[in-house]
Amino acid sequence: MNSKLKHNIILIGFMGSGKTSVGKVLAKQVSYNFSDTDQMLEKKARDTINHIFSIHGEEYFRNMETDLLKELYSNINNTVLSTGGGLPLREQNSKLLKEMGYVVFLKATKQTTIKRLLDDNTRPLLQGEELGKKVEHLLEIRTPIYEKAAHKIVATDDKTIDQIVNLIMEAYLKQIYLK
Ligand code: S3P
Repeated sequence: MNSKLKHNIILIGFMGSGKTSVGKVLAKQVSYNFSDTDQMLEKKARDTINHIFSIHGEEYFRNMETDLLKELYSNINNTVLSTGGGLPLREQNSKLLKEMGYVVFLKATKQTTIKRLLDDNTRPLLQGEELGKKVEHLLEIRTPIYEKAAHKIVATDDKTIDQIVNLIMEAYLKQIYLK
């Protein structure tokens, strides 16, 4: 057993990459708890992410994310944690995540991402015109950061949730039992 790795699976990736839907099924399969940083922050603030962004701005939200992560750091165990798409962008955060568990980057192409985010009105960074350009720009900046932050990268295009879950479980169990 790899004693260094804590027993958590952390899902990172762009908005619409399936972190929450995959995370819920994965948690059931491995009999872990499921938590989602966006949901925790909305509950804590008793406010929506859209409203937090519009009143206080992005930096304020990013500070909330870092504070939450520090709280979770020594407290989570046997958990699948789905993270907001911007959370690993701060180096401090991605360092914490890697120490908190097995970090999986759910990767999707630009085309798949855009398809999944059409008509979405819950993500403040993607509101307004030119969704394609916004996604392209953010993906370009973020993809190398997600890749560096992850222990494992899973390409999700054209895969079902169950297929993605199985790939993650296989990699995670190997990591835990074969080291
Ligand atoms: C964000 C992603 C969102 C949410 C916020 C900012 C981002 O979470 O945290 O709107 O910067 O990518 P999801 O990835 O769950 O949509």
